[in-house]
Amino acid sequence: MKSKNIDLKSMWERATKTRRGLGSETSLRRHHGPARLWIAVAVLVTGTIWLWSSSSVGLLGTYRVQDYVVNELWRTADSNGWRASSAPRTYWSPPPIESESNGYLRVRCNGGLTQQRSAICNAVVVARIMNATLVLPELGTNSFWHDKSGFVDIYDVPHFINSLKYDVRIVMSVPKITAQGKTKKLRAYKIEPPRDAPVTWYRTTALEKIRKYGAIHLTPFSHRLAEEIDDPELQRLRCRVNYHALRFKSNIMKTSSDIVNKLRSEGHFMSIHLPFELDMLAYAGCVDIFTPKEWVILLKYRAEHFPEKSLVYKQRRLIGKCPLTPEEVGLILRAMGFDNTTRIYLASGKLFGGERFMKIFKDMFPRLENHSMVGSGKLEETRGLAGSAVDYMVCLLSDIFIPTYDGPSNFANNLMGHRLYNGFRTTITPNRKAIAPIFMDREEGRASGFEERVRQVMFNTHFGAPHKRNHPESFYTNSWPECFCQTKARNHADQCPPDSLNDVLVSQFQDKEDTEVEATNQTDSISQTEELADGTGLATV
Ligand SMILES: *[C@@H]1O[C@H](CO)[C@@H](O)[C@H](O)[C@H]1NC(C)=O
Ligand SMILES: *[C@@H]1O[C@H](CO)[C@@H](O)[C@H](O)[C@H]1NC(C)=O
Ligand SMILES: *[C@@H]1O[C@H](CO)[C@@H](O)[C@H](O)[C@H]1NC(C)=O
Ligand SMILES: *[C@@H]1O[C@H](CO)[C@@H](O)[C@H](O)[C@H]1NC(C)=O
Repeated sequence: MKSKNIDLKSMWERATKTRRGLGSETSLRRHHGPARLWIAVAVLVTGTIWLWSSSSVGLLGTYRVQDYVVNELWRTADSNGWRASSAPRTYWSPPPIESESNGYLRVRCNGGLTQQRSAICNAVVVARIMNATLVLPELGTNSFWHDKSGFVDIYDVPHFINSLKYDVRIVMSVPKITAQGKTKKLRAYKIEPPRDAPVTWYRTTALEKIRKYGAIHLTPFSHRLAEEIDDPELQRLRCRVNYHALRFKSNIMKTSSDIVNKLRSEGHFMSIHLPFELDMLAYAGCVDIFTPKEWVILLKYRAEHFPEKSLVYKQRRLIGKCPLTPEEVGLILRAMGFDNTTRIYLASGKLFGGERFMKIFKDMFPRLENHSMVGSGKLEETRGLAGSAVDYMVCLLSDIFIPTYDGPSNFANNLMGHRLYNGFRTTITPNRKAIAPIFMDREEGRASGFEERVRQVMFNTHFGAPHKRNHPESFYTNSWPECFCQTKARNHADQCPPDSLNDVLVSQFQDKEDTEVEATNQTDSISQTEELADGTGLATV
């Protein structure tokens, strides 16, 4: 009972900190970045000195410094005076009323949970661009999981529609029309949009069709809108969808909060996304570490699902295209100074190659959990899309997040973006390309200085602080600076709107609509974190 109180308190502090906004948060953290950097440098130096004199000088001093760095990482990254904000910063016109809409827009979002998620964000932006009425997006059946969950099974629909009411009109289905005495559903004209289609494609080709037919059906719809759009207001709309309007259904939120509470009851925890799974491994084509029998399975799967390509393991690995193995992840964490008491939540599907890969990791880090920790009674929330959603929430809320592979999976990419938005939560992103030669040396018997070399790579990153988006980094991985603002900005465009997201939208529509959305004085970073916190009864603390 006592530990539970502590847990709730720390979660509450986190929640209120974000909610209170950034004034206090900012000043509190202002000196953090340089300090952290300094310590990282200190570790490198100390580490080097230690290597020189490893036989004579004791380990103790080095260990303490490392320990301190690791403790630093449990906090959020330095915000540098930035905070999340996706409220419009210029006049934002209301969506067209029914009679002025250009038509109905249907989309089918294919792919896994997060690929669908970004497709939903794109759909809202496209509806906005076209002045179309959005039909609740359809989620394509997932071939890998054989999952038939639809939007209504995963997301909170009333919240979605209500949150976006100042942006787009959303209906549950294409309406029926009456013509020549017969009532039937309006048929949507099917189009396959070009990959990463520019805004102009929607303003011309797609617009012409929707006007002509009254409804269009865009399928497939993953990655069908360019990620880089010149209009920052449209980018902010993407963030409003992704970080405010898309909320998982209550059963998913409940399961996630049960897991987070359980993990938090003993202090901080990290989450690792480890897609060491058949489809990822087959895609990556890094088969050499498996048995011949496993090769056959991987290569067969590859031939059936992906374009043919000659893949040489060593080359693939050297350019960072091979997923980290559980053992590599364990060695990296240990080199960084995490010890065997570290609590780890593992987000992963069925591990390929069975337990033998995991055993090595478990020996290094025995306090390992996954979503089955809440019990088999919750099975429906720990499988397929819903299971992935639970993993998403737990990774979002963890103190440290470690993606190990970003291949065709958007899961890690989206989470990094979401964690950035939720207050620059620490993300440790191993640079696989820089780390591969170090591991290869070790495998070939050149193990001296191994941990030191790993540390040099690992402490040379931003850990989830605001940073410039570098191609090919996705907007969904890093929405800075469009969806962030500064209270005292040098650049006018970065200036925080005076009020919260709701205040901004409500004030622009005051005459037009009654406001169901509460106009509170919260910052705009009300998002899933706090909603989850509220869901655990924290609001009454
Ligand atoms: C959408 O509506 C806005 C505001 O009424 C208008 O300025 C814009 O030209 C319209 N765009 C299209 C594609 O209909
Ligand atoms: C962690 O490692 C220490 C030795 O470094 C050992 O004594 C302890 O039993 C280990 N703890 C667990 C949970 O494995
Ligand atoms: C999750 O944990 C349970 C119990 O520790 C284990 O049996 C299961 O294999 C784990 N699943 C995955 C995907 O790691
Ligand atoms: C919000 O807070 C600001 C100062 O922090 C205050 O001036 C403003 O009146 C508040 N707005 C509402 C709606 O309470």
